[in-house]
Amino acid sequence: MNERPQQIPEVREPLPQVERAPLIAGNWKMNLDHLQAIAFVQKLSWGLKDVGHNYGEVEVAVFPPFTDLRSVQTLLAADKLSLSLGAQDVSPHESGAYTGDVSARMLAKLDVRYVLVGHSERRGGHGESPELVGEKARAAHAAGLVPVICVGETADDLEQHGAAAIPLAQLESALATLPSDAEFVVAYEPVWAIGSGQAATADQAEEVARALRESLRDLRGDDRAAATRILYGGSVSSQNVAGFLRQPNVDGALVGGASLKVDEFTRIVQFRKHVTAG
Ligand code: 13P
Repeated sequence: MNERPQQIPEVREPLPQVERAPLIAGNWKMNLDHLQAIAFVQKLSWGLKDVGHNYGEVEVAVFPPFTDLRSVQTLLAADKLSLSLGAQDVSPHESGAYTGDVSARMLAKLDVRYVLVGHSERRGGHGESPELVGEKARAAHAAGLVPVICVGETADDLEQHGAAAIPLAQLESALATLPSDAEFVVAYEPVWAIGSGQAATADQAEEVARALRESLRDLRGDDRAAATRILYGGSVSSQNVAGFLRQPNVDGALVGGASLKVDEFTRIVQFRKHVTAG
């Protein structure tokens, strides 16, 4: 781990004002087979149609398992649905003898727009190194996909280094191999908040999101820093989503468990309707 001390951003000129359309993304993890996926996406799109959801104002994306992608893509195309499609992982390699891997080009062929890289369940559970995360982001970009770079500290990291140091180091390392003109999304997911029911507070999420954006100014310049969406993830629900989205540097949510419940996810997508709540 490429650690560095927590940075206290210096006072700088404000960034250019750029509208960042919020992104509400559902990471299904290893849930829902392809038949369940079709039923889920149909129900979700009907629910969002019923409430008059404007996808141009708030983008909605689902990240199903690989085996569901073709079915969901077919449904989105046939019914002309404006949901975006994401994948949960990608090979760093273009093609070849990599048993079990799925290439970015294969995903792009299925109209996949986003791909998660560096999720803590892959960094931790599959021993993915910061370098590999960077390689995956690079491969995704090369095929025309937008990598969603996941960063976040464990409870131990939080105690030892504070909240921002590890996410900042992970972001810097992931960007090291990504071309400077590449579009990407950052997802701040404190590992201690994932699946625990213990979300970060909106203030905690904002503090790290702000530090990440300040770091993007150094790494990518002010225009990219102003345009890049930074999501919060970790026990997001319809009860707390509005609080996160009210923060100036939080531009969306990466939702795990609550994205599998169609009514709950529909409420999360409509965070603007309950923006006075929580
Ligand atoms: P939960 O919303 O279940 O905490 O999961 C968050 C997550 O890991 C999304 O990528």
